[in-house]
Amino acid sequence: MPLDRRSRPLRALRLSVTDRCNLRCQYCMPESKYDWVPRSELLTFEELSRVVDRFIALGVRKVRLTGGEPLLRADLPALVKTLAGKALEELALTTNGVLLRSLAKPLFDAGLRQLTVSLDTLSRTTFVHLARRDELHRVLDGLDAARTAGFSRLKLDTVLLRGVNDHEVDALVDFAAQLGAELRFIEYMDVGGATRWDRDQVVTRAELLSRLASSRGSPHALPSRGSAPAERFALPGGQIVGIVASTTQPFCGACDRARVSADGQLFTCLYATESTDLRTVLRSGADDAAVEATLERVWNRRVDRGAEARAELLRRGPLADAEQLKVMPQLEMHRRGG
Ligand code: GTP
Ligand code: 5AD
Ligand code: SF4
Repeated sequence: MPLDRRSRPLRALRLSVTDRCNLRCQYCMPESKYDWVPRSELLTFEELSRVVDRFIALGVRKVRLTGGEPLLRADLPALVKTLAGKALEELALTTNGVLLRSLAKPLFDAGLRQLTVSLDTLSRTTFVHLARRDELHRVLDGLDAARTAGFSRLKLDTVLLRGVNDHEVDALVDFAAQLGAELRFIEYMDVGGATRWDRDQVVTRAELLSRLASSRGSPHALPSRGSAPAERFALPGGQIVGIVASTTQPFCGACDRARVSADGQLFTCLYATESTDLRTVLRSGADDAAVEATLERVWNRRVDRGAEARAELLRRGPLADAEQLKVMPQLEMHRRGG
């Protein structure tokens, strides 16, 4: 298994299957207009499958499908079926849930077992404000459909924005408990895409823990999480909540994830500005050994600690503004997959 220059192994792959999205979350896609990657530049299912095989050959055992919104990729269950047949310990998918009502069962039947749904609010008005589409009812229906289809290990991801949805912490904890899902609160990150990021809007891990302590009683930290981004806590009422403190307490030291964007660019960090053009390698007739050599070489040279470097900044603002993103769209979170 390849190690990078900080001795971090390559164990996980986040694979974006489309840059398109049917929501416009303020923290991810705040602008009014986006140019999508032309279809011919998206990796095909054959290419995606081959990429996964080459990562597996190097020791990767965890693959998470992301977007944009992955359920917008035509025929996604067919891809899942192919990937579910591979030697992986974990095949997971992160979705906004809007299309789950019709796709939960086909995805489950295709072999998917791990599903994470983004859910930032339980209020229709707040949803429309935050995601700029009136789709909360479809997300909630989708969660129901996921339970019915057999997904028993649902996770819910909530990005907290002060003054927008942070008054819903307790309601979301209760909702997740009722659904039997594990809720994770994510600190608002200053990633590409978050062009209106503001430090004051971040609800930090420390603040969240103290709020939970006042409303629920002291959260009790659960044993080590390995390389997973979420720290887990048990509340006195028995609920488990996760906190992903990427903004104030980054976990780059344990980061074992490579990312491949929908257009086949290999990134070694969520904050990376440089990528390796895997699509061109794949389409140039390279054999398997050559593709693996490319992956290995990129990983061996890796030094990234993007979130830690951001946390060390004295003055911290958005990573890029809307104008910069027009020139460097590869920085967009919806293109490289959260
Ligand atoms: P599991 O540990 O398998 O649940 O995966 P996960 O937590 O990576 O899944 P998910 O897609 O739900 O990720 C949760 C959130 O953590 C993402 O939406 C990001 O906001 C954040 N995150 C995931 N990977 C990274 C990373 O490499 N660096 C940073 N800074 N944040 C990340
Ligand atoms: N801060 C934190 N998380 C973000 N995501 C996208 N943009 C941001 C951001 N600025 C993550 C959320 C969402 C997933 C798809 O991507 O977790 O649920
Ligand atoms: Fe929201 Fe995810 Fe779509 Fe970004 S990709 S706008 S976070 S649903």
